[in-house]
Amino acid sequence: MVTAAVVGTGFIGPVHAEALHRMGVNVRGILGSSPEKSREAAQKNGLEIGYDDYQQILDDPQVDVVHITTPNVFHFDMAKRALLAGKHVVCEKPLAMTSAETAELVEIAEANPHLISAVNYNIRFYPMALHAHDLVQKGEIGEVYSVRGGYVQDWLLFDTDWNWRLQAEKSGDTRAIGDIGTHWMDLVGFITGLKVEKLLADLATFIPVRKKPRQAVASFEGKKAENVPVEYDEVQIDTEDWGSVLFKYEGGARGTMNVSQITAGRKNFLNFEIAGSKGALAWNSERPNELWIGHRDRPNEILLKDPSLLEPLALAHADYPGGHNEGFPDTFKQLYKAVYGYLTAGDFDAPKPFPTFVDGHHEVLLCEKIVESNKHTNWVDV
Ligand SMILES: NC(=O)c1ccc[n+]([C@@H]2O[C@H](COP(=O)([O-])OP(=O)(O)OC[C@H]3O[C@@H](n4cnc5c(N)ncnc54)[C@H](O)[C@@H]3O)[C@@H](O)[C@H]2O)c1
Repeated sequence: MVTAAVVGTGFIGPVHAEALHRMGVNVRGILGSSPEKSREAAQKNGLEIGYDDYQQILDDPQVDVVHITTPNVFHFDMAKRALLAGKHVVCEKPLAMTSAETAELVEIAEANPHLISAVNYNIRFYPMALHAHDLVQKGEIGEVYSVRGGYVQDWLLFDTDWNWRLQAEKSGDTRAIGDIGTHWMDLVGFITGLKVEKLLADLATFIPVRKKPRQAVASFEGKKAENVPVEYDEVQIDTEDWGSVLFKYEGGARGTMNVSQITAGRKNFLNFEIAGSKGALAWNSERPNELWIGHRDRPNEILLKDPSLLEPLALAHADYPGGHNEGFPDTFKQLYKAVYGYLTAGDFDAPKPFPTFVDGHHEVLLCEKIVESNKHTNWVDV
């Protein structure tokens, strides 16, 4: 039986553990930032081991796959050490802090083709996103002319909102783009197959000074009234709260993306609208079981997720009957279905049905181009 270990006990580490449980993968243990946190998380998540440190996971012969869900700054070192120790890796996005790091990880992954090197772009695995992929690839909406949309949230709206993502040294040189924009760019690239040729970016930091609480607050917990800090230090912020990017894709298609972590009322709203020569498709993550199909010469449609109506790729990743909603936690399970299915099939020459380190590298490169474009206020070649 394939066995996994999870690194990170915050918001998303337990989501990985739960999704793995649900698809029958043995999760042996979990690691937090201290042995006490590891043991507490192991108990809370029903796992056998709370590890003392990362090396203990790498030395554990029973662990086949390491899931890395720590803050971004740790991804490079952890992913590299895991591959060199002969472990398969599923790493959270962004894959690392710089494209020099991600390029090195791609090199190590390519030198170890018998090991999985996946990046956790889970949003691809909503059934309706997969269905959109199949429709575009079948030519149902014709030639893609343009794409628009973005990813907006409100959890960092107030200057009392705090998270490690606000510190460039832990998160990277971009924040809204790197944290959520990469999900949008990955998803749209996956669905359409479009490759970015040039981009023009405008980034803004509307809250340049924030109140950093002296007590740690877990990701997304700062919005709760009891977590508003009483004691804090004022900290200068040097990454963007908001960003807009224009894309020119190879072949002539155009795109626009807007991201924000400070839009009141938008909890976690990723949306796309893909306009083609024959039709259009639109979807958003707050109504993930519906796909809007736009027509010029007949009434538009809203397709409610129903396995009996889905294209093959979406069908393979829809586990419940029509009208039974599948949501955020299911996308993790579906991504791991692709990863662990590939692993147990054992044909490592077969095309990979999941996002790889190459995709992770590409996203970090795009982030760097976006920072460069914003800095010089001009179009940048990708
Ligand atoms: N795919 C998604 O939808 C998604 C969603 C949220 C977060 N993420 C990604 O997951 C990662 C974690 O984000 P989060 O929101 O869970 O953050 P978080 O702050 O809630 O959790 C991070 C965890 O890492 C642990 N940690 C810190 N340093 C460590 C170390 N050296 N060794 C072991 N554990 C350590 C912390 O104790 C904490 O438990 C980020 O890279 C983020 O971009 C992805």
